[in-house]
Amino acid sequence: MIIQLCYKSRMEKSVLVFIAAPVMGHLAQSVQLAKLMLEKNNQLSVLVLVMKVPIDPEGTIKVQNIISGCSVERLHFHHLPTPENTDNWSSNRGLFMNQLVEFQKPHVRGIASKIEGLSGFILDFGTATSIDVAEEFQVPSYIFCTSGAAYFGLMLHVQSLQDDHNQDTIELFKTSEELIVPSFVQPVPISVLPTATTDKLQWSVRMRRYQYYRKPKGVIMNTFSELEDHALNSFLKDSAYGKSGLPQIYPVGPILNRSEMNLKNHSQISEWLDKQPQNSVVLVSFGSLGSFDLDQVKEIASGLEQSGHRFLWVLRRPPTEKGGFPAEYENVELVLPKGFLDRTASIGKVVGWVPQLAVLSHPAVGGFVSHCGWNSILESIWCGVPIATWPLAAEQQLNAFQLVKELGIAVEISLDYNEAKEHQELVRAEEIGKGVRDLMDGKNEMRKRVKEFSEKSRAAVQENGSSHLCFENLVQTICSGSHKWRGEGAVSNAKI
Ligand SMILES: *[C@@H]1O[C@H](CO)[C@@H](O)[C@H](O)[C@H]1NC(C)=O
Ligand SMILES: *[C@@H]1O[C@H](CO)[C@@H](O)[C@H](O)[C@H]1NC(C)=O
Ligand SMILES: *[C@@H]1O[C@H](CO)[C@@H](O)[C@H](O)[C@H]1NC(C)=O
Ligand SMILES: *[C@@H]1O[C@H](CO)[C@@H](O)[C@H](O)[C@H]1NC(C)=O
Repeated sequence: MIIQLCYKSRMEKSVLVFIAAPVMGHLAQSVQLAKLMLEKNNQLSVLVLVMKVPIDPEGTIKVQNIISGCSVERLHFHHLPTPENTDNWSSNRGLFMNQLVEFQKPHVRGIASKIEGLSGFILDFGTATSIDVAEEFQVPSYIFCTSGAAYFGLMLHVQSLQDDHNQDTIELFKTSEELIVPSFVQPVPISVLPTATTDKLQWSVRMRRYQYYRKPKGVIMNTFSELEDHALNSFLKDSAYGKSGLPQIYPVGPILNRSEMNLKNHSQISEWLDKQPQNSVVLVSFGSLGSFDLDQVKEIASGLEQSGHRFLWVLRRPPTEKGGFPAEYENVELVLPKGFLDRTASIGKVVGWVPQLAVLSHPAVGGFVSHCGWNSILESIWCGVPIATWPLAAEQQLNAFQLVKELGIAVEISLDYNEAKEHQELVRAEEIGKGVRDLMDGKNEMRKRVKEFSEKSRAAVQENGSSHLCFENLVQTICSGSHKWRGEGAVSNAKI
């Protein structure tokens, strides 16, 4: 296999290696970050190492689509080998990913050792333990946090409770109601903590990863200081997060995929939206990993009907095996209440995957029922669309809490719904209907607030905006000092 590093011009002297997480939302953000860096500095080239997740064929296709749709000069991709037998790997998605990252370490090492002009690593925060490899090459590494600063603070805080203060946090969370976290203004209810911190098995693996968050030269964050000033300031306070200190933090967001602004290839959806009044439609979507069982689908359907509002509902089929990934339905009619599609034909539409940013940008869309993945939150803020929170997994409960209680730009359908809970009750149609009505209430104060944040998010990435300046600083730091250019005779192709 040949990695085309293509030093077309002698100017390209430094190669940054990205170790992306093999989840679409993460990978898309990494690619976007890489593109921005390449635009900023023409001496740079980027090699993105991509992992295939054997248990996620549809995700693999999506990842492949991102890659093949991405022809950018000086941006290169390399597929790491797929592990052959994963039968004895964990069936938990998070732990599986962890094993995958460990499995890839020697392969990453092999590739990095063949790169001339290697000047640093950018690691998705899910692949952070690869810093071990980066350190062997004595080049700086940066972690890219594709979630919020407040959540990042929580991870560091819990790890510090354990490592610096010798607390058994698993036990602590069993017996307390809330936790004071430096990155949050208000005490955080234990019920919204991610299972990564409350589940014993997951925690044992995650804690080790969180220790790595202190090791890089910097942490790049997809957020902006006007949105998360409290959390970002908390990182500047001495010892707020324990003894070992923190790296430099670079809030450079929102980093969004602007080419998702296009509804061209979704003419049915765009034609339908064009016919709806301004701010009248609720987008209902739970992200690329979100899906529900049949009885919950039925509750959502009646909830939407009860709300009386117009809707665009992205409905996806749950994974067919434990630890698997959602996919598209062949026929949604079979899972919806009888007659639902007919009754709602004039006010609603049930669809598969949509380019979310484009839908949120459409003037007809006035609210978003969301799982509160960080990407979705940034997109909604960018478009000035308020959210009704329905978190499913990962750190989404915490994000939902932040949106409703700290930022005041969302209403709650639920704050602590968690698909991993053993006895998770259904969210009933009444709650969903009420949430949607609150969300679409034109007089609600949060609509104004989210518009303000929208303007701030756009200002942040414009010239001289907070994120823009921070990004310039970051690229300059990466490209100055530490790259090790091994002379003019660099190879044009590294053979592997
Ligand atoms: C951005 O969105 C476009 C349109 O959906 C898609 O084709 C492309 O792969 C996306 N790029 C990234 C980096 O996610
Ligand atoms: C899985 O099995 C392989 C051998 O087939 C072994 O090398 C590896 O350590 C096992 N992994 C786990 C997580 O048990
Ligand atoms: C739209 O579809 C055409 C043909 O199927 C394809 O060539 C093009 O890349 C697509 N554009 C986007 C933005 O997805
Ligand atoms: C940004 O700041 C620089 C230096 O202060 C100034 O010269 C430039 O005009 C500013 N650009 C904009 C768009 O405000």
